[in-house]
Amino acid sequence: MTTVAKGLEGVVAAESAISAIENGMLFYRGIDIDTLAERSNFEEVVYLLWHGRLPKRSELDALRSALLEEARVPDDVLELLRRAPKDAHPMSVLRTAVSALALYDPEADVMTEAANIRKAVRLVAKTPTLIAAWHRLRQGKEPILETESAFTAERFLAMFHGQKPEPEAVEALDKALVLHADHEFNASTFAARVTVGTLADLYSGVVSALGALKGPLHGGANEQVMKMLEEIGTPERVEAVIRETLERKERIMGFGHRVYKQGDPRARHLKRMSERLTAKIGEPHWFQMSEAIEALVGALKGLKPNVDFYSATVYHSLGIPRDFFTPIFAMSRMAGWTAHILEQYADNRLIRPRAEYVGPKNVSYVPIEARG
Ligand code: CMC
Repeated sequence: MTTVAKGLEGVVAAESAISAIENGMLFYRGIDIDTLAERSNFEEVVYLLWHGRLPKRSELDALRSALLEEARVPDDVLELLRRAPKDAHPMSVLRTAVSALALYDPEADVMTEAANIRKAVRLVAKTPTLIAAWHRLRQGKEPILETESAFTAERFLAMFHGQKPEPEAVEALDKALVLHADHEFNASTFAARVTVGTLADLYSGVVSALGALKGPLHGGANEQVMKMLEEIGTPERVEAVIRETLERKERIMGFGHRVYKQGDPRARHLKRMSERLTAKIGEPHWFQMSEAIEALVGALKGLKPNVDFYSATVYHSLGIPRDFFTPIFAMSRMAGWTAHILEQYADNRLIRPRAEYVGPKNVSYVPIEARG
């Protein structure tokens, strides 16, 4: 009798030298996430994930210039966005647009490591442009395709809102991007690795990842958190709504984690940011409600907030509509996905587990005329 690990819980599926979860702490290439959140920045983390060490000043400058240079998206892909239904979910639009980028990349099917790194640069550079372009197009505005900034967070906010962002907003988004950049064998990264494990191209890998990230049990949870907060509306209603939700055996979005049982180390950074930013926009009730939910879900279920819980009110405070929250997650995780794809190619073996068959056996074939 085979033991089945439902949801692959506890299964170590491969070796990886990119990120680690140890004693409830997260490390990128051996550096703890607290240090990176306080002292690093997104581009530096991208370099770290791809190359296994922090960049020298000249290497960081070169990466930032390359990201700025590659930020434009092909006109045909923009045309695709222009024709997309205005009510399409931004994650569906992003998944489709990233897939379309491959059609216009002459290196899409070139499998050398150098070409794959160039494609990774293009994807990290173009994803913010695609997200911002869709935000503007669906409001009937022209996309902003270029800004001067070589900093991803600043460039994205400028393209998204159509004005130069405040330094505090840039700093907050940059920190959120650092915190979301990689997370070991999460569902979307694993999906990417399964896809490229067949030696399919890098774009196919990230499209698989985008599909997996969209679900509410994974990256889609941050959007659902904001929806829940909006439905609750006021701090006074928290207790009743949370109790009713749990009584209906429904999940509270933004709580629980497959690996962290004592709390998600990324959440405490986002919590501090949420408190500061919601106060700054004059909407502290979002933070007050979140804190009340955290206390109640902790008391009733023993569950702690994960990365998606406080990131929701952080993004809201940056003026980002809730259906764009998961694309922001994707914009950051693109760094981790591509790092894992490079690692998978470097020492590939097809990922092909087995299933424990539990269906009927020895069933006879009945000709169609004889079927009742
Ligand atoms: N609300 C209520 N109950 C929960 C929750 C929750 N958010 N999470 C887990 N539980 C309960 C679950 O009902 C089960 O209870 P019982 O044993 O009585 O049936 C128990 O905790 C174990 O749950 P599980 O489904 O076996 O845990 P899992 O490891 O399969 O799921 C999870 C992990 C993250 C999918 C789950 O905690 C969940 O659905 N959370 C809400 C969605 C969410 O916030 N997802 C984001 C995950 S973190 C970052 C990311 O990937 O984006």
